[in-house]
Amino acid sequence: MADIPKSRLAVAEKEVERLRNFVRQAELMKGRISGARVARREDAEALAGLLRHESIDPRIYTMPNPINAETIKTFIDDHLMQRARGDGILFASFNADGEATAYFDVEVWPQWSVVKFGGAVKAERQGRGFGGACGLAAVEWCFDQLGAERICETTARDNDRSIRLLSRLGFTQMGEVTSVRPDGTTRPSLYWEMAREDWNAARALKRAG
Ligand SMILES: CC(C)(COP(=O)(O)OP(=O)(O)OC[C@H]1O[C@@H](n2cnc3c(N)ncnc32)[C@H](O)[C@@H]1OP(=O)(O)O)[C@@H](O)C(=O)NCCC(=O)NCCS
Repeated sequence: MADIPKSRLAVAEKEVERLRNFVRQAELMKGRISGARVARREDAEALAGLLRHESIDPRIYTMPNPINAETIKTFIDDHLMQRARGDGILFASFNADGEATAYFDVEVWPQWSVVKFGGAVKAERQGRGFGGACGLAAVEWCFDQLGAERICETTARDNDRSIRLLSRLGFTQMGEVTSVRPDGTTRPSLYWEMAREDWNAARALKRAG
């Protein structure tokens, strides 16, 4: 795993347990992406349908290779184990036809109160603000619901949309890291962080108008 997060400020054991327990009991993402919920084995086909699209798979280094219902079932199982430990969770949203419209892969370092979310939106819904809304929903879940102190992110150097989205959300780019794929191959990634206090300050400023 890349040497992330870069910021590692130890938190009290009581807070570590609170963060873990919040992740363990989380079912719905609750927020601006209605219906986003914990992904389960029966969602494997729908999620594979979302993730195997050419606009998504090559851009996300955590993707299994190949992407099909079997490999995504394993991917979901692994995330359900992370959730049981309280250090990760996989959310997904679906449309009325049962197609997956977005996913959120959340990694948690409770000992440092740091979270990282990866994600994607359905190809047909890209470039129209939906990804922006999903990014906002993910930040709000991490800070307002889970109550983490900090979010870290990685993007490929050429992922313009993701870079613009993270910049707009208020993330600060902090150099690069080397991301490691499940098959052990690596990719250089831009590294980003945002602290909850900075997010709250920016939001208060915006509200003050
Ligand atoms: C990254 C992703 C979530 C962004 O969501 P989206 O719905 O496509 O993008 P939005 O319409 O919300 O726009 C987000 C930003 O990208 C910009 N953008 C949109 N389409 C773009 C394009 N074709 N080229 C460059 N920038 C583009 C928007 O202008 C906006 O930037 P701004 O706020 O500075 O104007 C989505 O493109 C996606 O799922 N991509 C594939 C998976 C992926 O790359 N995930 C992130 C991995 S780090």
